[in-house]
Amino acid sequence: EQYNYGVIGLGVMGRNLLYNIADNGFAVAGFDLDAEKVKELHAGATPGTMVTGTASIQDFVAALESPRKIILMVPAGKPVDAVLENITPLLTKGDIVVDAGNSYFKDTDRRIADLASKDLHFMGMGVSGGEKGARRGPSIMPGGDLEAFKLLKPMLESIAAKVDGEACTAYMGKSSAGNYVKMVHNGIEYAIMQLISEAYDLLRKGANLNNDQLYEVFKEWNNGEMNSFLIEITRDIFQQKDDLTNGYLVDQILDKAGAKGTGKWTSEQAMEIGVSIPTIDIAVTSRILSAYKDERVQAAKLYSEKQITKPDNVELFIKEVGEALYLATLISYAQGLALLVKASEEYGFDIPLKDVVKIWRGGCIIRSVLLEKFYSAYTQDENLTNILLNKEISEIVKSKIKSLRNTAAYAVNNGISSLGLQTALGYFDAYTTESLPVNLIQAQRDYFGAHTYRRIDREGVFHTSWGNENN
Ligand code: 6PG
Repeated sequence: EQYNYGVIGLGVMGRNLLYNIADNGFAVAGFDLDAEKVKELHAGATPGTMVTGTASIQDFVAALESPRKIILMVPAGKPVDAVLENITPLLTKGDIVVDAGNSYFKDTDRRIADLASKDLHFMGMGVSGGEKGARRGPSIMPGGDLEAFKLLKPMLESIAAKVDGEACTAYMGKSSAGNYVKMVHNGIEYAIMQLISEAYDLLRKGANLNNDQLYEVFKEWNNGEMNSFLIEITRDIFQQKDDLTNGYLVDQILDKAGAKGTGKWTSEQAMEIGVSIPTIDIAVTSRILSAYKDERVQAAKLYSEKQITKPDNVELFIKEVGEALYLATLISYAQGLALLVKASEEYGFDIPLKDVVKIWRGGCIIRSVLLEKFYSAYTQDENLTNILLNKEISEIVKSKIKSLRNTAAYAVNNGISSLGLQTALGYFDAYTTESLPVNLIQAQRDYFGAHTYRRIDREGVFHTSWGNENN
């Protein structure tokens, strides 16, 4: 009973999170079904820290102080249920189980109810930052039972990334809000990665930049207002040599993107609760399309007339691609955050948007200096429905919109696929249009299906017998 925390699942993420907790002065026990991982655990710990690997789930439970605080870092889905089935009979009233994986929020709701019926607390907690983040300071998005959260808070604050001395963790809201916020984080992550890949494509195919030049461009971007984790790692990717060919590794990687589901869930959710997040949607579907490699090869041969015209002023082109990427990224955050606003209402999460952007400033994959601007926007108005409505944000948008238009137009005219940039621009144009042409859609719906319409000049619901009376 001497260990403060327990971690189940000693894969890279689980092990690193465990070491991080131990480095911050807590005693931590670890368990994994793979006995090898348990055996190796102690050897990897910082000397002097209190870390133990337990041989059985019984030993694991017995090693923990009361109330037990157990963190699960196992793959989402069935593995989580399997662990819960094994462990809950061994737990006692008041014990807390925290799921730190990328679990689907509805699974978390079900598990919360299930464990509550046994007087146990279950919490869903998003953790972002990859392997290094888990070890040195992730962004942590816990939600659910407030009392249980308070017990964990000091530990979470000590292990989380810090920005200006403030921990990148905060209570994200009721029930499965922690998983929901992490899911949307990943949706935004998909969108930004899509946009960066499009900028890369424009620079290599349009401006003919090689990897060394791409490195320089991304370096410059990262040194300025686009400073962010994803731009930074992209910069470094262009420098990575390949041991097998002596060329650059990025050029040898097959262009089929993988996905584990969080992006898809974000899009499904947005459709379900009626929020428009086209740039995230397109990022999900672009990964799907990338998998049709064989068909793309055939189609490229069949339609091979694509001619790319080099931009007249390459320097200006690069600058505009950068501004387009910056703005489209901003618009992707806007879409994701708008989804959180709606979900908070829809599911009664009470998500504090201001805290969300605050804790995304450090540790997580989508950290960027842009988040500072969102943080100040929510500080001015915590109930902002869309960050595009903030005055300061609108000034940024206005200063970059021309670059986004020029870049999108160049891509269209030269047949360089740029689904992310196009949808970010399209979303912006629709969102900022006072009168959309959907009056016509309403007329059509009423015409063929008597679906009715509303009028701009009077209240009520109307139906018209359209066209010729004799039709
Ligand atoms: C993070 C990442 C992490 C993981 C993604 C990858 O925040 O640390 O988002 O959770 O790398 O789930 O997702 P895909 O495999 O779907 O790209």
